[in-house]
Amino acid sequence: MNIDYGEKIPNNVDLSGDKTLQRALEHWQPGFLDWWSEMGPEGSQGFDVYLRTAVSVHPSGWTHYDHVRMPEYRWGIFLNPAQADRTIGFGDHKGEPVWQDVPGEYRANLRRIIVTQGDTEPASVEQQRHLGLTCPSQYDLRNLFQVNVEEGRHLWAMVYLLHRHFGRDGREEAEALLQRRSGDADNARILGAFNEKTPDWLSFFMFTYFTDRDGKYQLCALTESAFDPLARTTRFMLMEEAHHMYVGESGVARIIQRTCEVMQEHKTDDPAALRRLGVVDLPTLQRYINFHYSVTLDLFGADVSSNAATFYSTGLKGRFEEGRIQDDHLLKEQTYPVLQVVQGKLITAQAPALNALNEKLRDDYIKDSLAGVMRWNKVIRRSGLEFRLSLPHKGFNRQIGALAGVKIFPNGQVVSAAQWNAQERDWLPTPEDRAHVQSLMGRVVEPGKFANWIAPPDKGINKQSVDFQYVRFN
Ligand SMILES: [Fe+2]
Ligand SMILES: [Fe+2]
Repeated sequence: MNIDYGEKIPNNVDLSGDKTLQRALEHWQPGFLDWWSEMGPEGSQGFDVYLRTAVSVHPSGWTHYDHVRMPEYRWGIFLNPAQADRTIGFGDHKGEPVWQDVPGEYRANLRRIIVTQGDTEPASVEQQRHLGLTCPSQYDLRNLFQVNVEEGRHLWAMVYLLHRHFGRDGREEAEALLQRRSGDADNARILGAFNEKTPDWLSFFMFTYFTDRDGKYQLCALTESAFDPLARTTRFMLMEEAHHMYVGESGVARIIQRTCEVMQEHKTDDPAALRRLGVVDLPTLQRYINFHYSVTLDLFGADVSSNAATFYSTGLKGRFEEGRIQDDHLLKEQTYPVLQVVQGKLITAQAPALNALNEKLRDDYIKDSLAGVMRWNKVIRRSGLEFRLSLPHKGFNRQIGALAGVKIFPNGQVVSAAQWNAQERDWLPTPEDRAHVQSLMGRVVEPGKFANWIAPPDKGINKQSVDFQYVRFN
């Protein structure tokens, strides 16, 4: 179970036992490192960063913290241990042993699932590559880099599966993962949210709270997969994902904390005044929530989807916590509620449960997202202020599925295009909002110092103090 760091590619999959595969991945490795130096965190090449590195996939001791020179981070291939006698938990193959190899008839769909997941990993690194230049503290800079190196490792996780199980087309897909670029008009990343910009730290924290959480739900669904190598590798990725969401939730909470302090100190809730005082006013923060949440909801795909049904029935992708759900795990007879707009009104219709699995996963995600917003509101309540943050209606600002193109206010009211246009500025970040947030961004790197617009965290990383030297700039 321990990871061999003596190898060129650290791994716990006995890579040296398969020389052809090892050579193929060692051939891909320089391309990955070139991609990292071209598209990875800007200006970080000489930094020693206090990073955690997996040394074992055993839950009790998989993390090891030390200062690591950034480009020398040891990206590798780590699968959770195989579970003996694991059987398929859902779909037409329910009860049969899980697969160690890809069944020919599911090859194309599995490859598509793995490539789509794999594509998001380098995309987020590309989206975040300039943020280090405007970090609000060393602590935050370290967290950014931790997220970035782990997303790089998640790419390795998917590329291993492609090389190991998909032959020549797998190798071609692995190359293409290094070629696409977030936001590139000619060769964009596959999914919409991963082509948006992450231009400032408020966007970064929103992204890691909302969009990394989409990652959690997609990975959870894949941990149920009948294709055991996919299940095992996504299980390990989830352990890393938890920290990314923590960075997002605590980052937003610290911004709220700081804004509330300034509101109290100056006895004002006037956004213009708060902007002059150098913090993010809460209505702007709400608009950022609305944007990142709605863009992320689209990542779950169409509400009614025959692909989703196929992926489930064939055992490729399960539901969130499939094993805990009390039903037949076949879903041939059941229905599931989905939203539709009929004659200008939102109604709940029943779709075949198999076809509504994207919607089901989206609903699980929504519950989880809401819990964090409630915790953010606690920060505001503790400051004695009335303002409350919320999640907009599920149909707000959607571009994919039955609600795409329908204009729906955050409160769920279906409106005309004219009504929408008249109020869009209240619901989504305006150019002025973005310019204000951008104007706050500056580089703070003295240990223990924080930018004016964000409160320090309660505690440091790995029991280190908040003013610990997380990054040595050399
Ligand atoms: Fe990831
Ligand atoms: Fe992540």
